[in-house]
Amino acid sequence: MKFFIDTANMEEIREAYSLGVVAGVTTNPSLVAKEKNVSFEDRLREITALVPGSVSAEVIALDAEGMIREGRELAAIAPNITIKVPMTPEGLKAVSTFSKEGIKTNVTLIFSANQALLAARAGATYVSPFVGRLDDIGFNGLDLISTIADIFAVHGLETEIIAASIRHPGHVTDAALRGAHIATIPYKVIMQLFNHPLTDKGIEAFLADWKTREN
Ligand code: E4P
Repeated sequence: MKFFIDTANMEEIREAYSLGVVAGVTTNPSLVAKEKNVSFEDRLREITALVPGSVSAEVIALDAEGMIREGRELAAIAPNITIKVPMTPEGLKAVSTFSKEGIKTNVTLIFSANQALLAARAGATYVSPFVGRLDDIGFNGLDLISTIADIFAVHGLETEIIAASIRHPGHVTDAALRGAHIATIPYKVIMQLFNHPLTDKGIEAFLADWKTREN
């Protein structure tokens, strides 16, 4: 499973990318709205100049024609832009057009296996099932990852599964186990993945022992 970072914040992207483990970036309108004094297009230019992997940029229009227009403009910013489209009938019409034009797509707001299957059949490059938001309403978001992974494997579908709405390190481990190709993770959670009390304790003990050496 690969790691993407789920943010539009440049400092977070720079720091996470410098760790050498981040293969892509996902943004959404809520994340972009938190970024002040920078246009969406300029932020996408900054991100794509740093990260060579997939950078998801979401369309705002709700009709296929509007999504296609916006998506083509965003895709022209850099070759590694992936157009993020909401899981609706209009969204899938746009995905099908983008797919024929060679523009990569990420179908977002996936909450069921049927939605993922529809998106894959429309030609989506990625589907993003939202694990945390399903957990929030009493469903098991990780079960959805397993179901989609099984269905895609049975039918030989090449669409990649991005486990999204990741809230804690346990989600990351389980998403990997259950067959997600990618997890898109907030900066805070990426940093939490490094932590283990025994690692800290071990470093402390090694340094303390080092100081007692005789030569
Ligand atoms: C996915 O691409 C979305 O940007 C994201 O993971 C949503 O997460 P949230 O439920 O924490 O807003």
